Amino acid sequence: MMNQNEKKLNVAKAAVKHIHNDCLLGMGTGSTVNFLIDLLPEIKNKISAVASSSVQTENLLKMNGFEVQALNQLGMLDLYIDGADEATKNLHLIKGGGGALTREKILAENSKKFICIADETKLVKRLGIFPLPIEVIPMARSFVSREIIKYHGKPVYRENFVTDNGNEIIDIHNLDIVDPIQLENELNQIPGVVTVGIFARRKADVLLIAGEHGVDEIYP
Ligand code: 5RP
Repeated sequence: MMNQNEKKLNVAKAAVKHIHNDCLLGMGTGSTVNFLIDLLPEIKNKISAVASSSVQTENLLKMNGFEVQALNQLGMLDLYIDGADEATKNLHLIKGGGGALTREKILAENSKKFICIADETKLVKRLGIFPLPIEVIPMARSFVSREIIKYHGKPVYRENFVTDNGNEIIDIHNLDIVDPIQLENELNQIPGVVTVGIFARRKADVLLIAGEHGVDEIYP
């Protein structure tokens, strides 16, 4: 039996094959992406510039010999690769378990192609078993939590955690996410919400899922 880290490494190897010459690359955040970052030096000549979704990823990229560029200097990226906390076969995602959801969503929206990499434990029929992370402006935390209760979710403040943007995270338990695009749009409208961890409006273009017998590619 393959362990979860072996699957993460396998899906990272599969993602490397999707990086083509002269690539303006965006890198996500998390343990799956970390496997990919460690493989990037082997194909450094294919990457013309790289943008990062978090301080953690930026540090790892630098350790691997990459200079990280500001998104404002790059414009539209060719490819964004990131992990997920949950993914459906429709390529809708929950992200933000690592708290980097805002910069992740900015990079995903600013990329021509978004490849999501994950092991099979992340594949679900319907989003919402994983608590939905929401980044909030600190002064709005209680207000946003009260608004979320109207959706029958249970908001839990992520203690001792500050995002790279100086904000806080509320994790919403027990949400039944029937229509991910609608819920993403609605929650985005609550004043004080910076980013909702549903990635459905801009979903992944390809989902690479590592299992016991290899890596499956799922397209919409
Ligand atoms: C960070 C994220 C990550 O992509 C998500 O948490 C998956 O992480 P991992 O690969 O460690 O399971 O959204 O904000």
